[in-house]
Amino acid sequence: MNKFDYAILLATRKEAERYAIEKRVPIVSQEGAALLSQIVSIRRPQRILEIGTAIGYSAMVIAASMPVGASIVTIEQDPDRFSVAENFLTKAGLLSQVQMCCGDARQIIPDVSGPFDLVFFDAAKGQYPDYLAAVRDKLSSEAVIIADNILFRGLVEEQGSIPRRYRTIVKRLREYLNLVNDQRCFHTDIHRGGDGIAVSYYQGRANHV
Ligand SMILES: C[S@@+](CC[C@H](N)C(=O)[O-])C[C@H]1O[C@@H](n2cnc3c(N)ncnc32)[C@H](O)[C@@H]1O
Repeated sequence: MNKFDYAILLATRKEAERYAIEKRVPIVSQEGAALLSQIVSIRRPQRILEIGTAIGYSAMVIAASMPVGASIVTIEQDPDRFSVAENFLTKAGLLSQVQMCCGDARQIIPDVSGPFDLVFFDAAKGQYPDYLAAVRDKLSSEAVIIADNILFRGLVEEQGSIPRRYRTIVKRLREYLNLVNDQRCFHTDIHRGGDGIAVSYYQGRANHV
């Protein structure tokens, strides 16, 4: 049995949601949270990696559905958000199941031990291809990668011109989608709820080119 009290976890998650609204901290959409918990319930991952903790809301969503004995590594680069997340995750009784890392995920990932059964990308959208490259050798053979905001305000599928300030993000998200649409390595479904969520099922190391 996981050592947290489910009612306390849900109450703390609600409190974190209110905090996010009040302080304008971006957190996963309701559709994203529902999908995340559905995938965690079905796939029953034991080792989970989250990139972009913010205040710990999505870590609590994942924890509420994860199987007994599972653990999460979560990475956040903003020290203020990291400390708020630490408070919420402590209050939720999750500190023994969640390993928190403060810093740039691109530097931290090489030092975290996999393999991971589920990876959640929810940090800088323009860095998704970098996160993918960094986690690739740390995926278990049945891993699933969930990437939030993949359609980025509809601009990723926009045929016309993209506002200049979003061009790099859109280019990098398209690059990410090309990588996870390579059928030899991943099977990817795009969910259109929220800001778009890509769910990529890893096809195993043997299929790498
Ligand atoms: C959308 S928020 C995460 C929301 C969170 N997953 C949730 O739903 O509760 C994105 C977070 O990623 C963090 N971030 C951005 N780039 C990062 C990086 N390279 N490494 C670690 N964290 C990063 C930001 O500071 C921000 O708090």
